[in-house]
Amino acid sequence: MRRGSIVQLVLLGVLFGGGAAAVALLIPWLPDPASEQADRIDFVFWFVTTICIAIFALVAAVIVYSLLKFRARPDDDSDGPPTHGHTGLEIVWTAVPAVLVTAISIVSAVVLARNDHLPQASAAGARDPLKPLIVKVTAQQFAWLFTYPAYGNATSSTLRLPLHVPVDLKLKSLDVIHSFWVPEFGQKQDAVPGLDTHVVVTPKRLGTFPVICTELCGLGHALMRSWTTVMPRADFVKWANAQKKATGGGASGGATAAGKTIFVNNGCNGCHTFKPAAANGTVGPDLDKLTEAAKKAGQPLDAFIRQSIVDPNAYIAPGYPKGVMPETFASLPKPQLDALVKFLSGGSK
Ligand code: CUA
Repeated sequence: MRRGSIVQLVLLGVLFGGGAAAVALLIPWLPDPASEQADRIDFVFWFVTTICIAIFALVAAVIVYSLLKFRARPDDDSDGPPTHGHTGLEIVWTAVPAVLVTAISIVSAVVLARNDHLPQASAAGARDPLKPLIVKVTAQQFAWLFTYPAYGNATSSTLRLPLHVPVDLKLKSLDVIHSFWVPEFGQKQDAVPGLDTHVVVTPKRLGTFPVICTELCGLGHALMRSWTTVMPRADFVKWANAQKKATGGGASGGATAAGKTIFVNNGCNGCHTFKPAAANGTVGPDLDKLTEAAKKAGQPLDAFIRQSIVDPNAYIAPGYPKGVMPETFASLPKPQLDALVKFLSGGSK
């Protein structure tokens, strides 16, 4: 091969490689990672992308060079020169891809294993609920509910996580298949009815990120969203202990405070009006008028409230559509449910 041809091929390769690299680097394809797992996934992504760009540059350069160099003249009707295979070339183009594909699978396997690894509590730190922190994630059409077993089963409709602490999210679905996704955490995990799935997240950056359901699960799928807030460890412990205390149910005299916390934590205030909680949502019925509503439904007040929380479609207030209120609250622990019923019935007396 002449030196001029090699220079032309290299120039074409640089041109195509540079173009592809510019498309890869200048467009923000991926969100800024907020977890250690997302960092590793990004590494695999760029590892594979770099290999792809190199191969693209090589193939595109050879194709374009051949098109220009070996084009037949319009008046050339002769046959091309007979060519046989090139054993050396064939060995190279078989061996190089084999090495690359093997490298990609090894890197991917290492990252998958490390992302799934959950450091177990050491003997000394066995009583530290943050090593690792377990959060139960309950998915249902069309809402998320997060439960903290280490903090008296406190529940929240948004996911709060401590910075730099490995978290084991244990997913459960109460109806159809949903999928938990925080783009900044880089992972997706399905919540499947009858199956226990989990995903490990170690947040590495403070901030608030969206929680998205990424499995088409029904009419309200697009609205099945929440938020996750990554907090400094000390702030998280303070918050979680406050939830535990407020929703513990055991503390005498704290029932109203407990009820109010549960009301706000579970997002009731987002849809309902209720003066004792300073809530003014208008999606659902006005909870300041629960006494009248119970009369209309022909039920005792407390029983009516309880039923409306755990089985919201059993009785639909006139003028409101069916199936809007999530049924997730059926999984509230009993002490919290009791406190919530007490709080709500107290407000309309
Ligand atoms: Cu749940 Cu889509």
